[in-house]
Amino acid sequence: MFLLKCLPLVALIAAAFSANPGVKIRLTQKGLEYGKQLGMASLLEKLKTAQIPDFSGKERVSPIGKVQYSLTNIHVVNLGLPQSSINLVPGSGVQLSISNAFISLRGNWRVKYLRFIKDSGSLDVNVNGLSISQTIAIKSDATGKPEASSAACSASVSSAKVKFHGGASWLYNLFSKFIDKALRKALEKQMCPLVAKSIADLNPRLKTLNVLAKVDKYAEIEYSMVSSPQISQPAIDLNLKGEFYNIGRHQEAPFPAPAFSLPAQSSNMIYIALSSFTPNSAGFVYNNAGVLSMYVTDDMIPRSSPIRLSTSTFGFFIPQIAQRFPGLMMKMLVKADKNPVVKFQPNVMTVDATATATAYAIQPNGTLSPLFVLNVDSSVSSQMSVSDLKLASRITLNKMSLSLGTSYVGDFKVNSLDNILQVILKLVVIPTVNVQLSKGYPLPALGKMKLVNTQLQIMQDYLMIGTDVQFTG
Ligand SMILES: *[C@@H]1O[C@H](CO)[C@@H](O)[C@H](O)[C@H]1NC(C)=O
Repeated sequence: MFLLKCLPLVALIAAAFSANPGVKIRLTQKGLEYGKQLGMASLLEKLKTAQIPDFSGKERVSPIGKVQYSLTNIHVVNLGLPQSSINLVPGSGVQLSISNAFISLRGNWRVKYLRFIKDSGSLDVNVNGLSISQTIAIKSDATGKPEASSAACSASVSSAKVKFHGGASWLYNLFSKFIDKALRKALEKQMCPLVAKSIADLNPRLKTLNVLAKVDKYAEIEYSMVSSPQISQPAIDLNLKGEFYNIGRHQEAPFPAPAFSLPAQSSNMIYIALSSFTPNSAGFVYNNAGVLSMYVTDDMIPRSSPIRLSTSTFGFFIPQIAQRFPGLMMKMLVKADKNPVVKFQPNVMTVDATATATAYAIQPNGTLSPLFVLNVDSSVSSQMSVSDLKLASRITLNKMSLSLGTSYVGDFKVNSLDNILQVILKLVVIPTVNVQLSKGYPLPALGKMKLVNTQLQIMQDYLMIGTDVQFTG
């Protein structure tokens, strides 16, 4: 009984979690390598700030007896990270391994023995074989932006060789092995917290993800992460919402995002894939905003065209128009009737749009007299391109079919208007739409990112952009 009552809740939770992302971003090993390259420079600077605390101790050294020593002002003078690698740890994160790093330190020493003898000088320390292994977890924060944190870290130093300057050499040779060990431990303790600071420094950069990208005065695109990244052996996949919204009014699109998955690809640093959900949500938003409509007037039709928006042109096909409205100019309202539907198929993006075209005669006093309403079913294909972190497109008409909605001028053969409507779509409506589409739609981006070696492919159910990136500043 209890189980039965819970079932709807379980189903609801399952539905909420199965919401598919509209956009996926894949970071490949090549992308990780580039990220590592950027990160190592800042990690190097961070590790140079390592401060070895002053330390002191007592050791019994035969035959002198107790020797009190202290080491102060130990600081890094040189540091190198010649070997590092970055690897994905499926399910948990990214592992950074640094090996054979070296550090040169300088500081001061002081000893006291046989109750009253004091000595002091400087010392150089050569640290070799420093290894650091750091696991970085990447999660989605509360706002859907990526966040890196340190998941596990270990550091070890295989040798620290101390060279004393000044003082009695016989003495410090006797106890230098104690100091070597103490220094090694002190350094090992310093390394992980410094690496953790470097990871924390990544976050301001990661938080520059444009989770709400403004498009124009009507629309914005949400690129927040819908779940934490999926980390598998070849790549990290980020799942982003990828949904257009009317600005300030986030109403969910009335259709679900389809599931899609990326093919194994690794020649570019990142792959950005959009399912048809993203452009379809755009259609929903612009239709909601009431902007998928336009008036076509005769002055918009090129002068070279023999077809005019006048009762004499239309009267040639529909004689009633020439008789009842002689010598008048016309106006046509073309308006989307449903949300346009975008489909991705290999190498082809098509948009099916259903519109109405309402024709009016313009009376000498400006009054519009309706003549007829046509239903226009059209299919366009779209060529997509990427520039400046924007996805632009350009549509061309594939096919169009007309049916009569309403006539105010009696019966006529609708198909006789096919050519006129094609001219209006091709010469006026589509070029106007293309001006908008050419402005482009912002892609998800981090900070000052530049795309290079970019290519775009249309696959079954999604569009995929493969690209390398460069960060400038
Ligand atoms: C405008 O002219 C038309 C046709 O002559 C007429 O039917 C209509 O009443 C006029 N409208 C106005 C506001 O004058």
